Amino acid sequence: MLPAVTIVLATSNEGKASELRGLLADLPVQLVTTAEVLGEKLSLPEDGDTFEANAIQKAKAICAATRMIALADDSGLEVDALGGRPGVRSARFAHERATDAENNAALLRALEEAERGHERAARFRCVLALASPWLAEVKTSEGRIEGTIARDPRGSGGFGYDPLFLATEAEGRAMAELTEAEKNCISHRARAVRALRPVLISVMNLQLDEAERISG
Ligand code: IMP
Repeated sequence: MLPAVTIVLATSNEGKASELRGLLADLPVQLVTTAEVLGEKLSLPEDGDTFEANAIQKAKAICAATRMIALADDSGLEVDALGGRPGVRSARFAHERATDAENNAALLRALEEAERGHERAARFRCVLALASPWLAEVKTSEGRIEGTIARDPRGSGGFGYDPLFLATEAEGRAMAELTEAEKNCISHRARAVRALRPVLISVMNLQLDEAERISG
């Protein structure tokens, strides 16, 4: 077994962190939070227009602050009848400090008011960004999952918009009705992790080589 490489998660979202831990459980990585490394939560820049721009910003900021490998997740829900909203504003759709329940209620209201509100097609998107002190550029990957928006919340698992998202691949069950293991087979985050895996492994190897070089 290889020694564990420590990676700092550029997120304070417990739902994302728990899923990322599950998705990377087979690799010798230890995922820690920014608060655990720095003793405080950093307020992360997140003013980009795209998931990719935001993920890159967050990974760079945490890598610079900790001088460690940093993994950022920027994700959200795109609803066709709302022209792709809430998109990058998913966490703040109802208002700046919105709870998941407030965002879900705001989404149902927005669809009631939308001209094409009866069309419920939507997708979750996740962009991961990996920044390392030993890499010149930030590496990214993306995953998506298609579905529709339910009329009422269902289930008690997951986080965010999971109670309203009926995944096509889960035979119309809401994401919040799946176990974490089931969600981790099909989710946008699972797909982004799968796509990033080869890069992650090579970055981990670079880090282990560097540690070996330093220890002589
Ligand atoms: P971020 O911190 O700006 O990336 O915000 C992501 C937001 O998108 C979350 O707060 C949720 O509202 C939503 N979101 C992202 N991924 C998921 C998911 O897997 N399930 C449900 N909601 C999600």
